[in-house]
Amino acid sequence: MFNFHIISLFPEIFDTYCTTSIIGRGCENGSIKVQAYNPRDFCTDKYRRVDDTPYGGGAGMVMKPEPLFAAFESIQRHPNSPVLLTSPRGQIFSQKLAHDFADNKSQEITIICGRYEGIDERVATLSTHEISLGDFVLTGGELPALTIIDAVSRLIPGVLGQADSIIDESFGTGLFQGILEAPQYTKPPEFRGMSVPDVLRNGDHKAIEKWRRQEALRVTYQRRPDLLDKTDLSKEDNLFIETLKTK
Ligand SMILES: C[S@@+](CC[C@H](N)C(=O)[O-])C[C@H]1O[C@@H](n2cnc3c(N)ncnc32)[C@H](O)[C@@H]1O
Repeated sequence: MFNFHIISLFPEIFDTYCTTSIIGRGCENGSIKVQAYNPRDFCTDKYRRVDDTPYGGGAGMVMKPEPLFAAFESIQRHPNSPVLLTSPRGQIFSQKLAHDFADNKSQEITIICGRYEGIDERVATLSTHEISLGDFVLTGGELPALTIIDAVSRLIPGVLGQADSIIDESFGTGLFQGILEAPQYTKPPEFRGMSVPDVLRNGDHKAIEKWRRQEALRVTYQRRPDLLDKTDLSKEDNLFIETLKTK
């Protein structure tokens, strides 16, 4: 079982998502477990204060270190497991990081969610990684935490119905390794004048695979050419990309 420990002032945010659909099924069948810890429960003062004004002045409130440290120290966790601090200043989350977290030996991660203007800097000493979802600011770390839970859970055996689906997908380990997925179609074959490409309907698996690889290269070239520089491409791939450049 893979354990997610979440430190959040709003643990209820995780209830619906983690009991619904694929993630819910993963929890139910014991492949993953999501436990939330509310720093407010670890306050020792009468008013259960989790935030205070920033030193040096400025707008808003900052999360105090004591309740966060106490919540963290209450968790029964492997001492070497990853601890993720959600922050716009962090490393951008990626499929590669999702794999690293899913494969970590302790089979557990802890995620700290900030709120207000952020978290007292001393809390960063608890973390092994600072993780950002992207170059924008959210009101809290709960959506990043749910995103990480979702992306990592899909890689844990027993969570997805068909394990194959994580192989041949964008950034997967199969046909679309490091690049974007090829277009997908389902029935009907004709819809409002738009047809499913013939190659997908003729049952020639070799031709289908070639078409998918080339379409994936085309989409990646058009939308994320930076990915092509970072992935291993065959001679055939490179020749195909050259034809795209001349169009
Ligand atoms: C309003 S934000 C604080 C932003 C902070 N004052 C700054 O300028 O970087 C509150 C919390 O939301 C979370 N958060 C906001 N944007 C995020 C992002 N892009 N990636 C990860 N976490 C984010 C963090 O946990 C952060 O502590």
